[in-house]
Amino acid sequence: MKHKQTWKVKASILALLFCMMCMLGCGKSSTSNEKTLRVGTNAEFPPFEYINNSGEIDGFDIQLIKAVGEEMGYQVEVQNMEFKSLLGSLKSGALDAVIAGMTVTDERRESVDFTTTYYTATQHIIVTVDSDIISLEQLNGKKIAVQEGTTGDLLVTPEDDNEIITDKNTEVKRFKKGTDAIIELKNGSVDAVVIDANPAKEFVRVNEGVLKNIEITDIKEEYAIAVSKGNEQVVDDINEGIRRIKENGVFDELVETYINGTEKSVRRHSDNPFIEFLYTLEFVFISTNGYKLLLQGLVATIGISLAAVLVGIVLGLLLALMKMTEVQKGKKTLWSRLASIYIDIIRGTPAIVQLLIMYMVVFQSKMGMVAAILTFGINSAAYVAEIIRAGILAVDKGQMEGGRSLGFSYAETMRYIILPQAIKNILPALGNEFITLIKETAIVGYVAIQDLTKAADFIISRTYETFLPLIAIAIIYYCLVKLLTKGLNVFERRLRQSDIR
Ligand code: ARG
Repeated sequence: MKHKQTWKVKASILALLFCMMCMLGCGKSSTSNEKTLRVGTNAEFPPFEYINNSGEIDGFDIQLIKAVGEEMGYQVEVQNMEFKSLLGSLKSGALDAVIAGMTVTDERRESVDFTTTYYTATQHIIVTVDSDIISLEQLNGKKIAVQEGTTGDLLVTPEDDNEIITDKNTEVKRFKKGTDAIIELKNGSVDAVVIDANPAKEFVRVNEGVLKNIEITDIKEEYAIAVSKGNEQVVDDINEGIRRIKENGVFDELVETYINGTEKSVRRHSDNPFIEFLYTLEFVFISTNGYKLLLQGLVATIGISLAAVLVGIVLGLLLALMKMTEVQKGKKTLWSRLASIYIDIIRGTPAIVQLLIMYMVVFQSKMGMVAAILTFGINSAAYVAEIIRAGILAVDKGQMEGGRSLGFSYAETMRYIILPQAIKNILPALGNEFITLIKETAIVGYVAIQDLTKAADFIISRTYETFLPLIAIAIIYYCLVKLLTKGLNVFERRLRQSDIR
């Protein structure tokens, strides 16, 4: 009987490992259909690329590359990532092209190739309306916010070859998003933001009356699409595509809609603080579709948490059984050692690190959802295992002895006597684990999943309002947890009913 038991455990572990390897396998095998164009962007740069009111990546660049793809028979797949990781992903082969309002510079030319240019831009300085800064030179010794790795960043960083900003005390604060730089400026932590003309105008338009922009006319930049070095086929195809859409008028239409367009929602204002608050509410949650983003985020958060809890329970049970072989045998076993190592490693490393390893290394930046579910499942399993083990051990030893002396096998005693009692200890603790998990998933935004926290992040990027979106998600998380706690309490009371003596 004992033999049969260990055999079963072994078989299920093997099956599980097999399933995991299959899942990892399909994560790695990218379908290398040559007619797909994997394009990277950084959707933080309106009107060239941004997240639209439906939560999709949109903007001039995005429509441009899609139109080119359509002309040239490519299926365009757009991925949103940090601006400074774009060229790296191109070089590593994870992307075929980058379109991100990217300026052609000699330095960039050393590592990638560019298509023909499609837009001429300048740099702008954004300051608060009461500021008296009017030129780049005046930024010497000031605090300046920029988007990391952009030409604006280079322009104001005091390096040896920078002839304008020479004061080494100039402090440059680098942000992943232009909007974060703007929020910093609005909060009074920097004196200016330096960024390309069109996003600058967009940022100022949304912050009318608070911010103003100054054009630096003597600097001209050219935007082009970056392609990995030597990939002539793609460069030629894109160039031909651009030529065709310029000829058939699609290009001009895009300029009209996205760059000169006027259909954008403008925010209402009032002097009455209460009405102003209502207008802000309307702006943040309704007219810019914030509520839709929050709903989508909520669904993602709940989905990931539920799926991860299931993975966690299955894996955790397995780990607990592996550890229990130690109690059964009275000494450490191979299984119990393996389980201990697993639990030790998982508990000893931050969840965010595990998530990044799973997504970037194992899944090669693909299938973020699966990577997140697996990470949280694997992470949670370590805690679940300890919960289950403690729950089983809390059942009096006499129960096992009693079962065995009645003629039950070890497995039967477990199944009919120990586990039903252990469940009462285990379930409440499992509930707590679920609650923790829901809150922990707030980091999945790192792997490009739009959960609740990421939804707030998007809303902030689009509205420059920080208080309302953040408070909104705090309330939603709180309600979720509260609901779950209430449910668990009811459940626990039911379970304990038979205990009333
Ligand atoms: N034109 C600037 C550059 O090439 C800024 C581009 C930023 N683009 C973006 N999608 N965030 O550095």
